[in-house]
Amino acid sequence: MIKKAIILAGGKGTRMSPLTKAVNKQLLPIYDKPLIFYPLSILMLSKIKDILIIVNKGQLNQYQKILPNGDNLGIKITYKEQIHPKGLPDAFLIGEKFINNQNVALILGDNFFYGQNLSSKLLECTKLKKGAKVILHKVIKPELYGVAKVNKTGIIKLLKEKPRNFISDLAITGLYFFDKKVVEYAKKLKPSKRKELEKLV
Ligand code: TTP
Repeated sequence: MIKKAIILAGGKGTRMSPLTKAVNKQLLPIYDKPLIFYPLSILMLSKIKDILIIVNKGQLNQYQKILPNGDNLGIKITYKEQIHPKGLPDAFLIGEKFINNQNVALILGDNFFYGQNLSSKLLECTKLKKGAKVILHKVIKPELYGVAKVNKTGIIKLLKEKPRNFISDLAITGLYFFDKKVVEYAKKLKPSKRKELEKLV
């Protein structure tokens, strides 16, 4: 069973500037709650109770006012800061101690999931023992997303960022379940041209 998860809630949010100049995107309201409550509720539906939230350097105070230590929700919340938005794999480097050689889920702080049988699908994912599970969603314009090509049994055969030519219409969302090797894999990555940890060396 996966018992730990990381919410990656840093980032510059440049596409939502100037709203995000003073307030982090994940703290902006969606209906009557800060955006981060929605990915947090996905983890709670997955029955994951040990949660590390990674925030931008200097924004810890804002988050802790809204979500202190999780006591009121029956979960445990801890925080770490990310100095620069270096890419998603940085979550596993920042979170290495928290992960403590166990399987772990990752959800982006700006993701919103809604759908039929969601809870049972999530619980199924937390049964992961080896490898990874990546939550995909069918989209109309796959060229705008990172996509995954899967075979009949749902095994990922190819991943491609913003493919110019069609390879799949299944976009990679921001919810993943990994075995403990993810930390080791993240350590092997170097920054790409756009300065995100995504290049294998
Ligand atoms: P992005 O969409 O890559 O970036 P962003 O949301 O900051 O927005 P923009 O592109 O407009 O500047 O990030 C997706 C989510 O992941 C978002 O919730 C921020 C988070 N994130 C981090 O916390 N750290 C990182 O290093 C990266 C790349 C993203």
